[in-house]
Amino acid sequence: MTATKGLEGIVAATTSVSSIVDGVLTYRGYDIDDLAENATFEEVIYLLWYGKLPSQAELTGLRTELNASAAVPDPVIDIMRHFPERAHSMSVLRTAVSSLALYDPEADDMSKEANLRKAVRLQAQIPTLIAAYARIREGKSPISPKEGASIAENFLYMLNGTEPKPVEAKALDKALVLHADHELNASTFAGRVTVATLSDIYSGVTSAIGALKGPLHGGANEAVMNMLEEIGSAENIDTYVRSKLDRREKLMGFGHRVYKSGDPRAKHLQRMSYELGKLNGNLKWYEMSVKIEGLVTGLKGLKPNVDFYSASVYTTLGIPRDLFTPIFAISRCSGWTAHILEQYENNRIIRPRAEYVGQSDQKYIPVDFR
Ligand code: CMC
Repeated sequence: MTATKGLEGIVAATTSVSSIVDGVLTYRGYDIDDLAENATFEEVIYLLWYGKLPSQAELTGLRTELNASAAVPDPVIDIMRHFPERAHSMSVLRTAVSSLALYDPEADDMSKEANLRKAVRLQAQIPTLIAAYARIREGKSPISPKEGASIAENFLYMLNGTEPKPVEAKALDKALVLHADHELNASTFAGRVTVATLSDIYSGVTSAIGALKGPLHGGANEAVMNMLEEIGSAENIDTYVRSKLDRREKLMGFGHRVYKSGDPRAKHLQRMSYELGKLNGNLKWYEMSVKIEGLVTGLKGLKPNVDFYSASVYTTLGIPRDLFTPIFAISRCSGWTAHILEQYENNRIIRPRAEYVGQSDQKYIPVDFR
């Protein structure tokens, strides 16, 4: 038995939710470029869960259901009031999502219908949790979700307490479309492994959130903004990038396990970063990002991934940096739940093997003689 480090190139599941073939990402057969330009996040959620784009009536039905499910049980909001002020926002989200299960009477109902209803609740309540926590830690009261608003509109409204400008809601909506699913990425795999034991959907999504938190996965978007700020201004880029590469350190927002000639989502976020920056009269982060990209690609052949330009997009939208990865979770919840439902449909426990490289032939010695 020989292990493949990081399971690189290993095909560990079949899926009809999304695919990456020759650098092209599709959700249920629809090219991400097409969806990014034309679909709303709610249409994408429907597509991922049900395998087809919704009719107008189906879309209205889903939006109504999401809207009606967006309020979070009061005890979960209360729990968040007791979290330490300096808690990591993804740790907060992980714990809060886990606690949602305690207040859902259907938490352990494994029927397909109940699992779909829980997917709706998770998708609807994650944005509410994140916005509520962001306000609680500032000593403000959480804001209840607004009837009739999309997930993107509602999140910005619950976060800031004011109606978002249409251009802001549209930008966030597009970012949500772009992050919604990504084949067997680390967090989705974690979610699938968890539910393949026939554990519940809340456990699966909680595992996935834990995996998304890491800087090699979803945590990279926050790390990119830290890097941009650390660099400070365009004239420091050259020295910063070269010394990072000389020290063989990672530049956040670059590289990908699957895409070797570019992440198809990055160009959309780059365009959004430019457009939002121009609208706000501040292209500093965009321009710095473009310069970093040119240098890193030139020196190392690495291309930006989805996280690189999301950092400047979210910053320009006025979103606090530590909410970037939770926003990724809002979006990816749609993919996680689609994969979890798919796993339940055709389940077998996921239990690979490990190549043992430890000591052998050890003999027990009583503790007094060690
Ligand atoms: N900066 C500098 N060098 C890099 C980077 C980077 N961002 N990414 C890869 N490399 C180098 C790496 O050092 C190695 O070089 P060498 O062969 O000379 O030792 C080579 O490229 C292969 O890299 P790897 O780390 O073995 O690749 P991997 O497939 O195991 O990791 C990755 C993929 C995305 C974790 C990695 O590229 C990385 O750490 N990137 C930075 C973190 C990041 O942006 N993560 C977001 C990923 S995309 C969205 C998401 O999943 O959330």
